[in-house]
Amino acid sequence: MAAPVPSSRTRLIEESVTLSIAARALALKKAGRDVVSLGAGEPDFPTPANIAEAGIKAIREGRYRYTATSGTPELRAAGSAWLKAAFGLCYGTDEVMCTAGAKPALHMAMSTIIEAGDRVIVLAPYWVSYPALVHMAGGVPVIIEAVPDQGFVHDAAAIERAVVTHNAKGIILNYPNNPSGAVATRAQIEAIVRIAAAHDLWIVSDEIYAMLRYDGAEYVSAAAVPFGKERTLVVTGFTKSHTLTGWRIGFLAGSKAVIEAAGRIQSQVLGNPCTISQEAARTACAEAPFDEVARRLVDLDQRRQFLVQEINQLPGLKLTPPRGAFYALVDARQLCAKRQQSDLQIAELLLDEHHLATVPGSAFGIPNFIRLSYAAAMPDLKKAMTRLAAFVRS
Ligand SMILES: Cc1ncc(COP(=O)(O)O)c(C=O)c1O
Repeated sequence: MAAPVPSSRTRLIEESVTLSIAARALALKKAGRDVVSLGAGEPDFPTPANIAEAGIKAIREGRYRYTATSGTPELRAAGSAWLKAAFGLCYGTDEVMCTAGAKPALHMAMSTIIEAGDRVIVLAPYWVSYPALVHMAGGVPVIIEAVPDQGFVHDAAAIERAVVTHNAKGIILNYPNNPSGAVATRAQIEAIVRIAAAHDLWIVSDEIYAMLRYDGAEYVSAAAVPFGKERTLVVTGFTKSHTLTGWRIGFLAGSKAVIEAAGRIQSQVLGNPCTISQEAARTACAEAPFDEVARRLVDLDQRRQFLVQEINQLPGLKLTPPRGAFYALVDARQLCAKRQQSDLQIAELLLDEHHLATVPGSAFGIPNFIRLSYAAAMPDLKKAMTRLAAFVRS
C-alpha cells in the first residue's frame, strides 16, 4: 500500500531560495572553497554584549520556564515603551505581543486577518516569504510587478487598480525594503494608506529594517499616518539592527482585538517565545541602544557607497543607491540580455565558478536582477567586487 503524502497546501510553499543558496555556499565552504557569501541577510556584527548578558543572566538565575504565551507582561510593557521611544508609535501593553522573530509575527498577523480565499496584495520585489505566508493563512497573493524606474515604490493609483480588480482584502508593505532597499516617503505612505482606508484593507507593515536608513531617508510607519493605525499590523524587532537573528524574538503591534486573537493562535502553535531571549529583548527595549545602531550605520553606509561605486563601473550592471536595509539590488537586465542567461543561471555561475554567493532576483519576483547583501565585512565586499568584475568581463 502507498504511504500517505503531505497535504496539497504544502505544495504551494516553496523552499526559501535565500536559505537554500546559503546552504549551498556552506557546502562549498566545507569542501574547502574560499566562498564569499553575500546571500544571507545576517549582519556580521555580534549581538551587543549587554543584550547577550541579559540572556546569560536569565539562565544563571533560573528564569527559563514557560511564560505567558504572548510574552511576559514586563517585556510587553518594555516593547510598548520602546515602540514609542524609537519610532513614535503609540501602543498600549495589550496592543503589543512578543513572538519568535518577525517571521512568526507575520504568520500570526496573516492568520489573524485573512479569511479563506482572500486576495492579499504583495508588491514586487517582495521578501521571499510573503507569498508563502499568505498561502499558509489560506489567502491568495496578488503580485504587483516591480517598478524599478520609480525607485521601487509603487504609486497609489496602480495599487488601487489592483485592489479593485482583485477585490483585495489586504496589502503587505515593507519599507525599508528587502531586497530593493527602497524607503517610501511620507507622501507615498499617506497615499497608500488612503487607498487602504477607502477600500477597507488590512495593512501588514513589515518594519524590521526601520532603524537602518541612509541619506536622511525618513522612517514613516503606515500606523503613524491618518487612517493608518486601526487597519495596520506592525511587525518589528531587533533582528537586523542588533543581530538578534538566532535569538528568535520579534514584536507584533496592532489593535487590542487583533493582538488578543493573534495571541490565541500563538498559544496553540508556539506556546511562548524563548524565555531567555525574552529577557535579552527586555534589555534591548529598556536600554534603547540607539548609539549602537548609529555606529553600525556608519559602517553599513561605507559599504553601501563602495558597492554603488564599484557596481556602476561594471558594464551591463546598474545599482540605484539603496536608501535602507543592507541590500543592493543590482539591475542585471543588460548583462542577462548580452550573455543570454537568466538571473538564476548567473547566480549559479557566480557561486560555482567564482565562489560568490548572491540571490537571483527571481526569488523576489524581479527577474534579471541580483541581490547582494552588504551586511558583510569590507574585505569580503572587496573580494566580492573583484570576483563580480572577473565574471562580468569574462
Ligand atoms: C523583510 C523581512 N521580514 C522579516 C524577516 C524575518 O526576520 P526574523 O529573523 O526576525 O524572523 C526578514 C529576514 O530576512 C526580512 O528580510
